[in-house]
Order: sequence, then C-alpha cells, then structure tokens
Amino acid sequence: MDISASVQKFAELVERQLQRVEKIKAEKDFLDYSKLDKIIIGVVGGDGIGPAITHEAHRILEFLLADEVKAGKVEFKVIEGLTIENRVKVNKAIPDDVLDELKKCHVILKGPTTTPRKGDPWPNIESANVAMRKELDLFANVRPVSVPDKGIDWTFFRENTEGSYALGSDGVQINDDLVFDFCVTTTEGSERIARAAFEFARKNGKNKVTAVTKANVVKTTDGKFLEICQKVASEYPEIEFDDWYIDIMTAKLVDEKRRTNFKVLILPNLYGDILTDEAAEFQGGVGTAGSANIGKRYAMFEAIHGSAPRMVQEGRDKYADPSSIIRAAVMLLSHIGYQAQADKLAKAMDICMFEEKKLVMTGRDTGATSAEYADYIMETIKRI
Ligand code: IPM
Ligand code: MG
Repeated sequence: MDISASVQKFAELVERQLQRVEKIKAEKDFLDYSKLDKIIIGVVGGDGIGPAITHEAHRILEFLLADEVKAGKVEFKVIEGLTIENRVKVNKAIPDDVLDELKKCHVILKGPTTTPRKGDPWPNIESANVAMRKELDLFANVRPVSVPDKGIDWTFFRENTEGSYALGSDGVQINDDLVFDFCVTTTEGSERIARAAFEFARKNGKNKVTAVTKANVVKTTDGKFLEICQKVASEYPEIEFDDWYIDIMTAKLVDEKRRTNFKVLILPNLYGDILTDEAAEFQGGVGTAGSANIGKRYAMFEAIHGSAPRMVQEGRDKYADPSSIIRAAVMLLSHIGYQAQADKLAKAMDICMFEEKKLVMTGRDTGATSAEYADYIMETIKRI
C-alpha cells in the first residue's frame, strides 16, 4: 500500500467514526424492562466448551423463571450458528441470520466464542465478542469482582466499543516494515461510560470512583477519556473521584493495604480487558467471574474466559466449569428486574463454591460434570 492509499483508507475510517458519533448522539435512553409485555432472552452457545456450559446456565434460568415463562412474561430463544465453523464459512464475525435473531431479543446469554488470531488455521476474522459489542452498541462492560474476606469489592466499568478495539481489525499495513493500528476515543463514548459508572456508584452507595488511563503518554485519546471522566465527576460531588495510571494500578491491585480503597473503576477498552483478568484472579480466576455488556437497547451477558478448545479435543467439555456463565446469568436476572431470583442464585453459588463444596470442578473426571454442578446449584436454591 502506498502512502496515498493509506491516507485514503484513513479518511474512510474517520468518516465511519464520525457517523458513529452521530449515532451515539441520537440514541434513546435505556430500555425499561418493566414496561415490556414480554422479555425475550436469547441463548447463544458459542463454540468450544461454550454450548456445554451455556446449556447449564440456561437450565438454571428456566428453573428460576418457570412461573414467568408460564405466564408469558419471559421467553427463551435458543440461537444456533455462532460457531467458528459457521463464521468461517460465511466469512463474517457474526453471520447475518444470527445477527437478525439476536436483534429480536432484549437480553442475551452468550457462551465463549473462539477468536482467531494471526497464525491460526482459521482466517483472521474479527472476534464475535467484539463484533457483537459493536453491532448492538453494548458500550459498558461491567465486571464485578468480590472477595469479602479480603475486603475486595470492585466493579469495573470497561468502555466496550472504542479505544484500541474500535478499529482492531482495520489496521494499515504500509509496507513490509511499517504497520499502524488505531485507537479511537470520542467525547460521547467516554461520557456515556463515565456516567454509567457514576450512576452505578450513586445507586449502590459506593463513595469512590477511579479512572484508569495512561494519559501522561497516550495524550490525545487517553487524555480525552480522562478529561471527560473529570467533567462527569464534577456532577457527582458526593462521590470521591481520583485517577491512576494503568501501570501503577496493575501493581496496586496486588497491594493489600491500598486495593481495598478502590470501589468503582472506569477504564478504556484495552486497559479494562487486561485489568479485569488480573482482578478476577483474586476471586479464583477468570472461570469464576461474569461479565455484563450493556447498551441502551440491548444487553449481553457472558463468561469472561475463552472457549477452551483443548478441553473439547480431549473430550473433557462435559467437565467444564459453568460458574462464570452462571455468574453472568445472575447479572442478567438483576438487569431485567428479577432481583430476588438473582440474589437466590448468587447465594446458592456462594454456598456451593465457598462454603459446602460438596461437589468440586476440576476440569476432568476427578471432579463433577457441568450438569452435576448445575443440579447441585438448583438443589441448593430449593433449600435456601
Ligand atoms: C474479554 C475477552 C475478549 C476481549 C476477547 C475474547 C476478544 O478477552 O471479553 O475480555 O478482549 O474483549
Ligand atoms: Mg479479556
């Protein structure tokens, strides 16, 4: 590619991002689930261990919402076809028919999907996660991490549609020696994630919000992100606001004296990706954490781990730990207004995982299967 072709490509990318800004400006307020006659919950298995663990979370949701389904207030819609084979076949991150089905739902429970990278046997198509977040404009990636006996109670608000991810598959190769990627920050995109974090803090009695950037070096995009966080913070005078750089924040999460001060954190996309994996590790690993991807019209709930193809190759998928996607199901229930069911499920999980431990997941035949574990959780729900 010569310089003028690169400049032309850059101009097209700028054009598309300007259109996205206009779309954000025009978006309506958050959907009010209490005003819907019926809430449609999409269930998408994904690939690798995804279908096995998602099936278990789906069974638990059906169990908890049985009365609502009978009364016609909730409907489940199982959506097939978001597999790596199918995505490769049509050469799309999300096949069109799958996207159409997703758009008929209000909320989605999604299993992990394989993300091809350079050197894999698959063509280098965009991650289905990243594509879904963009297509459904799921701008807030909310990831709670709590370890009560260590005093850890963090809620991460990771910006989910911009930063280094916005054009992650649209980098420019100038020649063999020179390549560029882009990082995108908009006023509107930063403002809506900052506001979501502060609103959450206000509603949940959290007295501190922290922004995490590298604005001292990545001056333009992170600088904008931080500036908008500061501006939004001034509208919430009762909440203490501070900001940290991502490098020292990564260290401070390990500092037992300092880390318990953090409550709600706002981060650009890539830092949020990295820091939430580190944070989940204190709670027992990425297999234990759920993740909510929230937009104004749609919301999607997923496990934060990958599709573990090796477990499937070794015939161990039925031993995959469903905890992370079940935690995601807790967040889904709470998001659509079924807080009592969400609390019950969360409590049952804590009993099974940390107190009783009658069954343990080891990822192989030395431990329970995903189905046995889900049964254990449902039996626990019945007796609490
Ligand atoms: C996550 C995952 C995804 C991401 C991958 C699978 C593309 O790591 O949800 O954190 O980077 O966002
Ligand atoms: Mg990640």
